[in-house]
Amino acid sequence: MSHNSFGHLFRLTTWGESHGPAIGCVIDGCPPGITFRVGNDIQSFLDKRRPGQSRFVTQRRELDLVKVLSGTLESNDGTHTTTGTPIALHIDNTDQRSKDYGNIAQSFRPDHADYTYFKKYGLRDHRGGGRSSARETACRVAGGAIARRVIEHLSPGARIRGALVQIGTRKIPAAQWGGNWSSDHINDNDFFCPDVDTAKAWTEDLDRVRKAGSSVGAAIEIIADNIPAGLGAPIYGKLDSDLASAMMSINAVKAVEIGDGMAVAELSGEANADEIRSGPNGQPQFLSNHAGGILGGISSGQSIICRFAVKPTSSILTPRRTIDETGADTEIITKGRHDPCVGIRAVPVGEAMMALVLADHLLRHRGQTGR
Ligand SMILES: Cc1cc2nc3c(=O)[nH]c(=O)nc-3n(C[C@H](O)[C@H](O)[C@H](O)COP(=O)(O)O)c2cc1C
Repeated sequence: MSHNSFGHLFRLTTWGESHGPAIGCVIDGCPPGITFRVGNDIQSFLDKRRPGQSRFVTQRRELDLVKVLSGTLESNDGTHTTTGTPIALHIDNTDQRSKDYGNIAQSFRPDHADYTYFKKYGLRDHRGGGRSSARETACRVAGGAIARRVIEHLSPGARIRGALVQIGTRKIPAAQWGGNWSSDHINDNDFFCPDVDTAKAWTEDLDRVRKAGSSVGAAIEIIADNIPAGLGAPIYGKLDSDLASAMMSINAVKAVEIGDGMAVAELSGEANADEIRSGPNGQPQFLSNHAGGILGGISSGQSIICRFAVKPTSSILTPRRTIDETGADTEIITKGRHDPCVGIRAVPVGEAMMALVLADHLLRHRGQTGR
């Protein structure tokens, strides 16, 4: 059992290592007749996750150019139409530097996956962490881009957006949380930050962290708007449990919240009740959204709101105590090119995971109810 696949009807399988010749994914279960163009519909999302775009992310230079190998018919103008057969996507690794990882060949980076991979498999690919490297998340972004096209087809008007809402102790002010923040600014800065002033403060914060060779944690918020009511299945196919699993599967994620998340522990029943009134056109109107758009594991038609926290990058320049493969005490410094805050590039990855879960659930809902 290796578990490199994710989803039920819309199923993503990823393959490849950080320092192999290429990485890629296979999407099985994509309906026929979905159209996309590589540049606009896939590459644009990969470009958001791509390394080397600012001084605040890893300086590894990967173009992450995606090729479609199967599962579509391509017309002369470059439009791909899915045929219903498996879609294979391929991305070359063009900037591996295995020598950067020489010092971790025998020793385990504290807080990385080195020790646990070694204990599980008896060997490990120390060059960039192999399969534990977040390089794999490029495949999720590519698959998530196709998932977005499926969502647009089955649920016109649906929109998925994500933002970084916290770096270290500095958070986006509370008034700007949960859908109130302005999407206009997200792509204006190096952080996918929805608030101009916070982005300026993060620039100074992260410059300090970067120059010190250290790292810092972060929180990301992903929102899906205009998603129909009814997605998700009781009991073991709840939309929130699938979302939590999807987000938790992203490298470095240590906590996932839906709606008010951990803050519900402080609320009364009155404060937490998302009261309902009869709205325009006979549609129900919810007066708040503490539930994050999911009730009983099923989408309510409100915005689906999910947050997750990522830990500080474990690869840092400050010496840390560890052991080597013989069990002897040693110290380690991780050289090479690393993200000082992995939260930045986790934003497009979180959006992709939201898209993959929703595309899968739209198809599952249709499969069961015919709607
Ligand atoms: C977008 C992204 C980029 C990352 N970049 C790095 C990195 O440059 N160096 C590093 O040590 N970890 C990086 N990580 C985190 C590691 O992949 C992760 O900590 C490691 O696989 C261990 O898994 P765990 O933290 O989920 O337990 C990154 C994570 C994400 C989501």
